[in-house]
Order: sequence, then structure tokens, then C-alpha cells
Amino acid sequence: MARLDVTCNALARASDNLERAVARAAGLPDGVGEAFAVEAAPASRAVVEAMRALERLQALMVTGDADTVFPELPVDPGRVLLVGDTHADLTWWQEVGLPTARRVGASVILQVGDFGVWSRDQGRVLDGLEGPLAEEGRLLLYVEGNHEDFGYLLSVPVDEDGVRRLRPHIWHLPRGFRWVWSGQTFLACGGAGSPDLGGRVRGVDWWPQEAITPDDAERCVTGGACDVLVSHDGPVQVDPEVGYRGSWSAADRAWCAASRAQLQRVVEGTRPRLMIHGHYHEHHLVEAASTAYPARRFTVLGLNHAGGDHGSMAVLEPSLLSSGEAAALTIL
Ligand SMILES: [Fe+2]
Repeated sequence: MARLDVTCNALARASDNLERAVARAAGLPDGVGEAFAVEAAPASRAVVEAMRALERLQALMVTGDADTVFPELPVDPGRVLLVGDTHADLTWWQEVGLPTARRVGASVILQVGDFGVWSRDQGRVLDGLEGPLAEEGRLLLYVEGNHEDFGYLLSVPVDEDGVRRLRPHIWHLPRGFRWVWSGQTFLACGGAGSPDLGGRVRGVDWWPQEAITPDDAERCVTGGACDVLVSHDGPVQVDPEVGYRGSWSAADRAWCAASRAQLQRVVEGTRPRLMIHGHYHEHHLVEAASTAYPARRFTVLGLNHAGGDHGSMAVLEPSLLSSGEAAALTIL
């Protein structure tokens, strides 16, 4: 196991160096760097793939013995701790997130994207969380945001239950995944456009798969109505520039708007009573009107980012949703 750790770390460093070299070369003049980048790209991808295979093997060695108990999604989770963008902040999880889950007695933590698992982190966040989650029998579920390593995330297969089990107690819920808690239908539709796209490098810290596609939206809508929509981006009823005002380029705004338009198809097509999202790093709890049928109202909970002043977490009790969203939600 120790030798595997050393190999993983060495490969991760090689991968990072190669990725940086390719990114730098792509920016050189006279087309020389560009040609190098094109030639080096397959090697870079091969290194990244090898590293991911090792990571999966490493995870299997940690969790894959015959006695490991893989939890199931509870039918009635009791209390669910909702968490805003965490951006790979393991210290926040250890000092705030996990203690809060213990304090409020949440059996499940539901995180709304920009969770931030990066292949270069060598499972630091996943392994740092899996231990205490397993010890306390708690599940951590999340939808993807835009600031995620989609190269890594999408390399993990969706299992027969429709989720990506990154660790036994840490699951990613893909776009279109549905589940029922206390008789209430939940729908996952993560993803969003990056407003800081212009400052990022494709394949290094940005991937086009962050955007919700027409196929994603179609898949969500085809499943029919839901009670609770869990997303990363917010509906158009929320000010799209909150938290980023003045910093978006025209191209980045257009990219973000295209993904958000697909999310809006999902909002209108699945008619949730409650929508829970992050992304804008601001807390709000508002009643919104459908853009297609203004008489139809729904509740929008926007979560602040981890470490934000207020509203980065909330407790949801799905069994109380039948009495109204206000009864089921406690903002922390
Ligand atoms: Fe985001």
C-alpha cells in the first residue's frame, strides 16, 4: 500500500508537470508550441488515465475488502444537511461541515456542487471525508458544479444504481438521477457555466462538460415532475450576476447563459416545489414564479459558499415537505 501511495504521488507530479508544459506550449508563438502541444496531448492524457487507474486501485484497496458494508440510500433520511459550494476545502469539512452534521443529527449530507475533487489532489478530500463518514454511518451525496475535475469525475463509471460511488459513503449524483425520500421525488441536475472561463485552461482546470446540454435537460424532463430539484446553477428568477458583478466577459456570459437556459427547461418541465442550488455564493430563500405559468409558484433556496457568513448550510426534513417548504427547512 505504501509503495502504491509513492507511485501515485510520483505519477501525479509527472501528470501535473506534463499538463503545465502542454498548457504553456500552447501559448508559444509561431505555431511551434501549438504543434508540441498537439503531439504531447496523447501522452498527457495517457499519464492522467494511468494515474486515475492507480487512484481507483488505491480506493479499492482501502475499501474493497469483503467485509466492507456499502450503505444504501435511505427511504426516509430524517434530517438532511444541505451544504453550499465547498471547493475542496477539507479543513472546512473537518472543522465545520462534519461537526454540524453530527450536531443536527443528519444521516445524509447533500452538497450542491463545486465539491472540488481534483485528480491532482490524490484523493485527499475523498479519503479525508470517507473515514469519519464511514465511522459515523453518514452518506455524502453531491451534484457537480462547474469547478470540478470532469476528466476525473467522468472516468468513474455510473453503477447499476445510477450513481458514481467515489467512495462507499461519497456518491456523485449525475444529471437526471432521481430518488425518493419520505415520499418526495428528488431530481439532480448539476453543472453550470464558469463565469471565470476566460482565465482557465481546458483539460487542466476547465472542462466543457460543466455545461448542461440539451440532452441532459431532455433526460431530466422526460422523467416527469419532481418535488425537489437539486442543482448547482440557479433559476433565471435569481439575479445571474450576483456574486460576480462586473467580472464577466461577454463570451463567458453567453457560455453561462446557454447552460442556464437548459436548466430553466428542467425547472419549467419538472415543476419542482423546492429548488436548492449554490454557485452564486450568496444565500437567499425566495418564492419565485414560473416563467411559463406565473401562477405557479415555487421556493428557491440558494446556499452561500462554505465559510460564508450565513446560509452556507440548511437542514431539510423531507418528511415535513408535505406541510410546506418553510416547515421542512431550517437555515443555519
Ligand atoms: Fe459554481
